[in-house]
Amino acid sequence: MGVEVKVEGLTKSFGRQVIWEDVTLTLPKGEISVLLGPSGTGKSVFLKHLIGLLRPDRGHVYIEGHDVPNVSERHLYEVRKMFGVLFQDGALFGSMSIYDNVAFPLREHTKKGETEIRGIVMEKLELTGLLGAEEKLPGEISGGMRKRAGLARALVLNPEILLFDEPDSGLDPVRTAYLNQLIVDLNQQIQATMLIVTHDVNTARTVPDNIGLLYRRHLAMFGPREMLLSSQEPVVRQFLNARRQGPIGMAEEKDAAELEAEKEEGEEIPPLPPIPPQILPTDGRMRPTQRPPGEWLREHDITPPAGSFDGVGYAPRSGGRPAQRERVSAEGDGVRALRTTPARRPAPSATAEAAPRKRAATTGKKATASQAATDAPAKKTVRRAAGTRSTSTGGTGRRRSS
Ligand SMILES: Nc1ncnc2c1ncn2[C@@H]1O[C@H](COP(=O)(O)OP(=O)(O)OP(=O)(O)O)[C@@H](O)[C@H]1O
Ligand SMILES: [Mg+2]
Repeated sequence: MGVEVKVEGLTKSFGRQVIWEDVTLTLPKGEISVLLGPSGTGKSVFLKHLIGLLRPDRGHVYIEGHDVPNVSERHLYEVRKMFGVLFQDGALFGSMSIYDNVAFPLREHTKKGETEIRGIVMEKLELTGLLGAEEKLPGEISGGMRKRAGLARALVLNPEILLFDEPDSGLDPVRTAYLNQLIVDLNQQIQATMLIVTHDVNTARTVPDNIGLLYRRHLAMFGPREMLLSSQEPVVRQFLNARRQGPIGMAEEKDAAELEAEKEEGEEIPPLPPIPPQILPTDGRMRPTQRPPGEWLREHDITPPAGSFDGVGYAPRSGGRPAQRERVSAEGDGVRALRTTPARRPAPSATAEAAPRKRAATTGKKATASQAATDAPAKKTVRRAAGTRSTSTGGTGRRRSS
């Protein structure tokens, strides 16, 4: 279960408002990814492009050989059946009971009889802890229950891809923790490819296999969790550590004077906090796509911040580079946008500075898409702040649209 979602050069404007340009990333099959970004950066718009509810100006979304923006209506209908979506506001029908809301996609998209539908609906309601609430209307249950009802509905068609738009907004921390555990358990059970849009830094730090950050009309970074949690990229650090210091201001972009003042006042960005352990499924067994703690860091010879993976028996390899020596952009306010794309492991001689050192011994484990993505620091696409064009150092022959 679960399919790869490959986004290439996606660009979208509404009139003269550019939402984002040239977004390229791959959601690896069966993995959990999180998409972060300041409010209004177009995260919900991005999700709507994946399911073909909105069309891009340029670019592609490849799913199982279909290019979503360019498929026929008939194929789009088929592609959409692969998705389960939990919309930002739950998007339940207010005049329908929870039961009917959850049954809706089955009645709409399948020829199943009511007995079979009942079995599926009750199973999903049980899974999301909603048994007993099936006759209630959405207005009669709490916000957290509505979220879970939206999730139950997203699950009834056995989706290959699950999109969550801020599943945790409006939930208290305990409910958020339950929901995160439910997402992790679900991934273990159905192995769907999952993308979660969230503002919750704790969710972003502990749930996913991969993290992406939309910022200033570009995808600033996308890659394995440990890559972003050890990144010194100012905007990534600021966002993932929920700091005031850094390039993001109240109105998304701080002006140069404000950044200068911060520097003069010595408001340096504090050191990276420890990387927390990734949430395990309730049964304590790793999900099929989950990687052991510290594996990415070891492969790339980076020592994580002190105290990382507390309590999970992680031992850093001696002699690794400290995370502080990750390359940092020297450009003034320049946001160095860095994209990762699945790429072959580079030849040992290529881009010596950025190329990860190979592990002395391999585990014999089959390379996954996410592992391939982890090789991408050697194939960085470096882009200066808005306006200038990308220069690719990787030579992967990736297409560029412009
Ligand atoms: N259908 C539309 N027509 C015109 N503009 C739109 C449309 N949908 C979204 N926008 C604009 O696109 C921008 C991005 O919106 P989006 O809802 O994707 O932001 P977001 O990152 O999800 O924000 P938040 O974190 O607050 O949910 C906003 O400026 C919004 O007004
Ligand atoms: Mg949104």
